[in-house]
Amino acid sequence: MNRLRMIPLDETVVFPGMPATLSVDVGADDRVLLVPKQDQNYARVGVVAEVSERVRLAGRGVGVSLIGLHRASLGSASADQDGVLRVDSEARPDQNPAPALTREHEREYRAVVDEILELRGDDGRIRAFVRSITEAGALADTAGYSPDLSFSQKVQLLETFDVVERLKLAVAFQRERLAELQVRKRIRDDVEDGTQQQQREYFLRRQMDAIRKELGEHDGSIVEEYRNKIAQAGMPDGVRQQAERELDRFERMGESNAEASMIRTYLDWLLAVPWAKRSEDRLDPTHARQVLDEDHEGLEDVKRRITEYLAVRKLRAERGMAETRRSGVILTLIGPPGTGKTSIGESIARATGRQFVRMSLGGIRDEAEIRGHRRTYIGALPGRLVRALRDAGTMNPVIMLDEVDKVGADWRGDPSAALLEVLDPAQNHSFRDHYLDVELDLSQVLFVATANVADTIPGPLFDRMEVIRFDGYTTAEKTAIARGHLWPRQVERNGLRPDEVSTTDAVLRRVVTDYTREAGVRQLERELGTLLRKTATRIASGDHAAPIAVDEAAVRDALGRPKFFQEAAIRTAVPGVATGLAVTGVGGDVLFVEAAAMPGKGGLVLTGQLGDVMKESARIALTYVKSHASELGIDEHALDGREVHVHVPAGAIPKDGPSAGITMVTAIASLLTRRPVRSTIGMTGEVTLQGRVLPIGGLKQKVLAAHAAGLTEVIVPERNQPDLDDVPSEVRDHMLFHIVRSIDQVLALALEPSQLAVAA
Ligand SMILES: Nc1ncnc2c1ncn2[C@@H]1O[C@H](COP(=O)(O)OP(=O)(O)OP(=O)(O)O)[C@@H](O)[C@H]1O
Ligand SMILES: [Mg+2]
Repeated sequence: MNRLRMIPLDETVVFPGMPATLSVDVGADDRVLLVPKQDQNYARVGVVAEVSERVRLAGRGVGVSLIGLHRASLGSASADQDGVLRVDSEARPDQNPAPALTREHEREYRAVVDEILELRGDDGRIRAFVRSITEAGALADTAGYSPDLSFSQKVQLLETFDVVERLKLAVAFQRERLAELQVRKRIRDDVEDGTQQQQREYFLRRQMDAIRKELGEHDGSIVEEYRNKIAQAGMPDGVRQQAERELDRFERMGESNAEASMIRTYLDWLLAVPWAKRSEDRLDPTHARQVLDEDHEGLEDVKRRITEYLAVRKLRAERGMAETRRSGVILTLIGPPGTGKTSIGESIARATGRQFVRMSLGGIRDEAEIRGHRRTYIGALPGRLVRALRDAGTMNPVIMLDEVDKVGADWRGDPSAALLEVLDPAQNHSFRDHYLDVELDLSQVLFVATANVADTIPGPLFDRMEVIRFDGYTTAEKTAIARGHLWPRQVERNGLRPDEVSTTDAVLRRVVTDYTREAGVRQLERELGTLLRKTATRIASGDHAAPIAVDEAAVRDALGRPKFFQEAAIRTAVPGVATGLAVTGVGGDVLFVEAAAMPGKGGLVLTGQLGDVMKESARIALTYVKSHASELGIDEHALDGREVHVHVPAGAIPKDGPSAGITMVTAIASLLTRRPVRSTIGMTGEVTLQGRVLPIGGLKQKVLAAHAAGLTEVIVPERNQPDLDDVPSEVRDHMLFHIVRSIDQVLALALEPSQLAVAA
């Protein structure tokens, strides 16, 4: 037990082996006990140090150089007669354990420290020093040199006598340090990358300035340029003021500022709007009609209505009535795909001498798509409407709002609300894009909307539309379109000259009937394309010398076997199948309702993805047939122990609506009476429990489909009779229409006489 002078060290730890220079008075002692302390808390372990030298410290009196020798645990302390604090202490030099116990930890410690030194950029001296230390305990103590270890960590090391424990502790502390350094390095690297980028930009800008100077453009030329552009843009006052405000802000900011580039983008967009530009509006209805006729075959009604619409605008313009939206609602073209809606929109633009821009709305769910994002968003841009104006380059283009029926709505807002603001005639016709944040006057824009179906157009929007329906083409119309437009276009597309290929209307008609089944003409154009590609190949390969006359054999050769044939006769050959007519998103279609009976408990099974309304129709149909069994000549017990299955192909396509009602009754009645349905007849109509036949929608499309499918008779509800006027006469003249009021009329017309069934 030694009694040594105690030297308290404020927040400093001196380890054994460590040299230190302290400005303390040690009297005549050559050994002292160094005890770390923080506030009034002393460590429980001190280090015995040997005084190697007494030195004069610059301006701070005397000091001593010492070197730590070994740890010592502290006993009681008291002041001696000179007032010097002395402590009893017990020397605790390191008990180095067998190397096997420490080897692993030592290796790890050295490795970690190596990495730390690597990150710190050590010049090799510290590494050499650490390498020179061979004893495990001393090695752990080298952690005491680390500037990053906290005081309490150092005290913890000091107080750990057990060498293995101490080494583990040192490894843990150094690991922590290493992790920290690594993170710091990563951050530093990132920052460096960023600054390098900034510096790059800065230098580039400087170079640009220099080049500009060289070219004689003085410094403020960007600002000047913008000022000129703004002055010449013909903006409305409010907009011009806004632009100038932003430009001033830009000027004050200096070009290298990050926000400055955002302001420039904004100004560029403001200038991209063609504020003062408009094309000469040509409102001559005769000319318009001429252009529409040039571009499109048929479509009499559509062309007439468009011409009328333009005539009204012309009249208003001539009489000096202000052009507001109030003067006309939005023209909306509704019809199946490929019927020429988009292309007639382009024709309207051509006819009126305006620019044409198509804005596809299909699948838009975000209001910001239309209205833009506020400038506070990073990467904000104006909405589609502003972009459409930019693309048009004039303030009075025809903007086609394509596929308004496919606008969705979700949590990102309702795009149709933004559309409404654009289109509502009752509003003042100013529109505010979130990004530009200025009033845009859209009163000169001619909006034309298109849709495949009317039911999914948002109600408030639909209210403001003037609907023009495209119902699809007859075979003769399609043939004429092919002859006048599709054929010449495809001839040219396939690199052929008009005099090199020819064909007849009969051949074109064959392509229409045997290779396409659609309301529009897209597939027809594709088939003609295939046909002409093959022809072009034959000419190019020297197989055949031009001119080539494309005949039916060539069609068969190029397009293969007919894709469509008149299947009604085959399908309705057995009792229980009736031919219905329907309207889907792609136009009119025929569908075969099938009924079958099987053992069961008298229920009804429905398949084919039927909607609720259609299911109810089926139930009504079955109830009707059951309750009129005797009139229909059905055996009372026909359904005992059996159930009826009604299927509507194609099974994968969902369908709904009440208009298959009479078709279902007919199918079930046919099944139970064993009288097949006449194969030339198609039908459509809703049915009530009392057997009344109610009117349905889309008659024209249904009749066109029936005609295309080779049917010659159609059963039509009495109240739909006026709709027959819409059916093109060339179809009407080839069809026999049966006007009915009740289901017994339907059954009398549709079912084959019973003798046949008996014979069958
Ligand atoms: N009556 C017509 N006369 C001449 N060409 C036509 C006629 N109808 C359609 N076409 C041509 O058919 C092609 C398809 O028409 P378009 O793209 O306008 O169809 P759409 O009705 O807009 O279809 P969707 O609903 O799928 O957008 C166009 O190339 C168009 O020129
Ligand atoms: Mg279209």
